Amino acid sequence: MSFERFTAELDALWRAASQAFSQVSDPAALEAARVEFLGARSGRLKALQKMLADIPPPQKPDAGRRFNQIKKELEEALRQAQQRLGSTAAARSRRPPLDPTLPGTRVGLGKLHPISHTIEELKEIMGRLGFTVADGPEVEDEWHNFEALNIPPDHPARDPLDNFYLSVAGQLCQPPLLLRSQTSTVQIRVMERMPPPVRIIALGRVYRPDEVDATHYPMFHQMEGLMVDRHVTMADLKSTLRLFAAAYLGQDAPIRFRPSFFPFTEPSVEVDFQWAGGWIEFGGAGMVDPAVLAAVGYDPEQVTGFAFGLGVERLCMRRHQIPDIRELYRNDVRFLRQF
Ligand code: DAH
Repeated sequence: MSFERFTAELDALWRAASQAFSQVSDPAALEAARVEFLGARSGRLKALQKMLADIPPPQKPDAGRRFNQIKKELEEALRQAQQRLGSTAAARSRRPPLDPTLPGTRVGLGKLHPISHTIEELKEIMGRLGFTVADGPEVEDEWHNFEALNIPPDHPARDPLDNFYLSVAGQLCQPPLLLRSQTSTVQIRVMERMPPPVRIIALGRVYRPDEVDATHYPMFHQMEGLMVDRHVTMADLKSTLRLFAAAYLGQDAPIRFRPSFFPFTEPSVEVDFQWAGGWIEFGGAGMVDPAVLAAVGYDPEQVTGFAFGLGVERLCMRRHQIPDIRELYRNDVRFLRQF
């Protein structure tokens, strides 16, 4: 075979093969083209390679070089075609093509739990009335939960069935410890720590072994308030709670005191706020009993004080029209996300 004929056939093969590789549209057709042109045993390139032997010796090196060049180019064209079909096929099977004009996926932002949110708001309102925030432990001793609050050992409020006393290995702790049943404990802790005047609120969890229903839960929150100074009166208590009710529930929210009894206040009252036409009890209040002031080393002849304790869940539930306290602790985000 002449050198000219060889190179002409080589060129023709290159044109046919590169056209075939660039035009096939599925992997099976590409494989057929590969076998036809580059097949190792009977491919057309292989057939041409055999012709090399017949090229006149002076032109053989040149012919060999051209052959290798074409072979390299066709292998590259094949590789590109394989990549093109392979990647589009794989992409098609995995996901739809990316549309950069589509809106992005919204990232869910966390929110405060409605009770945490309520607590923040209560702190803010009471802060404006001059009350600072105090804190105390949730595991308490009997002195802070009962004794110093004028609740004697034989008082029914100390019944083990009405409290969460702590035990270790089946034995009640000695001295006894319990989950606090009221935030009034913080009154004692604050007054033990500092001399009067005192003007604090304490917001936190309290625990009682109540049957769970729409209005009861074994853990809930209270806002305790305490003000002790010279000449603090019941009028101060009522104005403070009235200002609080107006700030939290709305302008001119009327409040009402009903006579009641708590061991740590004298006189004692139940506090009702008017809401949606009815009176709702939100907690208790009163003038700090002189025995409590004496228990912490204050002089009841020098100072007087008022105290109150309101249910945080009640406030939150009224405000947001939540009918069942259990919703607050089910932790269903579809519910919680609404607030
Ligand atoms: N500690 C009472 C309770 O949990 C509520 C309460 C009543 C708190 C009167 C007070 C108060 O500070 O003066 O039922």
